[in-house]
Amino acid sequence: MSAPKPTPFKNPRAAHGFLGRTCSIVSVGAYVPARILTNAELERMVNTSDEWITSRTGIRQRRMAADDEFTSDLASKAALLALERAQVKPEQIDLIIVATITPDMPFPSTACLVQRKIGARRAAAFDIEAACSGFIYGLEIGQQFITSRTYDTVLVIGAEKLSSIIDWSDRNTCVLFGDGAGAAILQNRPDSHGLLTACMGADGSKADLLSMPAGGSRCPASAQSVANRLHFLRMDGKETFKNAVNAMYQAARESLRRCELDIKQIKCIIPHQANQRIINAVSERLGADPSQLFVNLDRYGNTSAASVAIALDEAVTQGRIVRGDLVLLVVFGAGLTWAAAVIEW
Ligand code: ACO
Repeated sequence: MSAPKPTPFKNPRAAHGFLGRTCSIVSVGAYVPARILTNAELERMVNTSDEWITSRTGIRQRRMAADDEFTSDLASKAALLALERAQVKPEQIDLIIVATITPDMPFPSTACLVQRKIGARRAAAFDIEAACSGFIYGLEIGQQFITSRTYDTVLVIGAEKLSSIIDWSDRNTCVLFGDGAGAAILQNRPDSHGLLTACMGADGSKADLLSMPAGGSRCPASAQSVANRLHFLRMDGKETFKNAVNAMYQAARESLRRCELDIKQIKCIIPHQANQRIINAVSERLGADPSQLFVNLDRYGNTSAASVAIALDEAVTQGRIVRGDLVLLVVFGAGLTWAAAVIEW
């Protein structure tokens, strides 16, 4: 057997006596709804201004799903594109994982609805809920099935129709969010290390910073819960901001440490697209150069679980990432949750 090729990084999975297969993202796809909601339109809906939104967040517009377009529709469109690019047939998919906080309904899972819509009749299917961190959580869960040789093909999707849980009279939140979906096909590619590591974390003691209080077992839907506007997203923006910067920095640093990588060796950093000021603060603390960052939040706002998935799709289709590049994904969301992943593309 020939000796393995030397790499500029350590593969943490191999370092722990790893005997499984590597897991790569073999293709990506994304879908955003056609309707664009601009800051100028929001100025007519709440007491805000394009200047405030742009300078405080970096967001200029976001996409809004149509009334008859649901999270499973956005997810299915992103998935079909990823399948086409990978030349994988729906029947080849062994498992579908959908990360979302806006499922079509509490049950059945959105993953099952996607399974039906794309015709992936062999696939097992389930949803995960880790808010904005859901896509990286999904990648890490999905890779376990590939490396263990349990499954050959896993479809991971981050998809949201956040417009369905936004209080359109609350200027503190309604300017921040948008709808969309991104998908990734996971398989073994023998010539690549693929997903090198993923650091996931959570702090449930800060669950109240960002939540949708009603609609679950604690506060089922009632005339009163609707009257009290409890079926909408609520957020303590300032505290969320501080926690986001710290958690994203720590997760990114830990994942780089595991791979014995310096931030300068990363070709492309794809952060959660929530706020340009959060991205700048994390990037500065990491010692990254702005040219390493991929940012598209000006066009889509925060699409929660879809955010990094859509950005990854754009970075790949724009040629910002090519095979062999090292990529850092880093996210943060409600829960609180956070995650970072290093990938040899
Ligand atoms: N237009 C105009 N003024 C506004 C708006 C608006 N859209 N929103 C808030 N303001 C006002 C506030 O009322 C406040 O006024 P006051 O001083 O008279 O009370 C003032 O602007 C400043 O508000 P701050 O909250 O201090 O503004 P800040 O600079 O912190 O920015 C923001 C607010 C954008 C929400 C920021 O805190 C943020 O991005 N937080 C993080 C959000 C996030 O990343 N969430 C990620 C997870 S999402 C998920 O998991 C689903």
